[in-house]
Amino acid sequence: MELGRFWWWVVLILVQFGMNGCFGCWEQERAALLQLKASINSTGDIENFQTWNSTNKNSDCCDWDGVKCNNTTGRIIQLDLSWMMSWSGEDWCLNASLFLPFEELQHLDLDDNQISRWVPNEGFERFSALRKLEMLYLAINHFNNNVLSSFSGISSLKLLDLSANKLNGSLHIPATWRSST
Ligand SMILES: *[C@@H]1O[C@H](CO)[C@@H](O)[C@H](O)[C@H]1NC(C)=O
Ligand SMILES: *[C@@H]1O[C@H](CO)[C@@H](O)[C@H](O)[C@H]1NC(C)=O
Ligand SMILES: *[C@@H]1O[C@H](CO)[C@@H](O)[C@H](O)[C@H]1NC(C)=O
Ligand SMILES: *[C@@H]1O[C@H](CO)[C@@H](O)[C@H](O)[C@H]1NC(C)=O
Ligand SMILES: *[C@@H]1O[C@H](CO)[C@@H](O)[C@H](O)[C@H]1NC(C)=O
Ligand SMILES: *[C@@H]1O[C@H](CO)[C@@H](O)[C@H](O)[C@H]1NC(C)=O
Repeated sequence: MELGRFWWWVVLILVQFGMNGCFGCWEQERAALLQLKASINSTGDIENFQTWNSTNKNSDCCDWDGVKCNNTTGRIIQLDLSWMMSWSGEDWCLNASLFLPFEELQHLDLDDNQISRWVPNEGFERFSALRKLEMLYLAINHFNNNVLSSFSGISSLKLLDLSANKLNGSLHIPATWRSST
């Protein structure tokens, strides 16, 4: 009985090893970060992206700049992608689905990125699949009132920062959430 329990733990630990490679970041999350990087034509804080390195297979993406993992599970819980596009003349056309592999994400910072557009049907409403997302920082972007309805399905959200955007007039705050804008 006790021995069976022991082997069960061994198997569990090995599975854990296999999935997140020596307790570092998860392979699928690493791939998702690289896909995200490729989708952003960054001319802003390029420094951040230099550690997001596809050629260095051994680098643990939990150590990449702007990335914070849960140190028990190795899953990404925080992403700081502020000021990626500041020096670019172009808008970042956001594809929110690129963030969906980060299932445990709690905190996402996209401040100061000149974001005004998103891929059709790939807006923030997609984030309703991110069950742990509590803090979403979108200050200093180019969102207008139209963006508001897209947050109503994100039930875990506790903080939404939309300061210094292009919202105007009287705002209809969906009844399902209340926060400061
Ligand atoms: C990135 O932006 C530069 C400068 O605007 C442009 O020349 C280049 O084609 C863009 N690359 C991609 C992959 O969008
Ligand atoms: C990525 O890592 C490889 C191997 O460690 C290194 O040679 C290369 O310079 C790195 N690239 C960047 C952009 O930092
Ligand atoms: C990390 O994950 C463990 C296991 O799921 C959880 O108990 C813990 O609260 C998490 N820590 C943080 C900081 O999210
Ligand atoms: C794991 O993370 C928690 C909360 O972020 C921190 O308090 C703790 O010291 C960390 N443990 C290790 C071993 O790094
Ligand atoms: C948006 O991202 C998703 C997930 O990676 C991808 O399947 C989809 O093709 C992307 N859409 C566009 C228009 O790039
Ligand atoms: C508010 O925004 C709308 C649409 O972006 C615009 O037509 C309108 O002139 C703006 N109103 C004010 C008071 O800025």
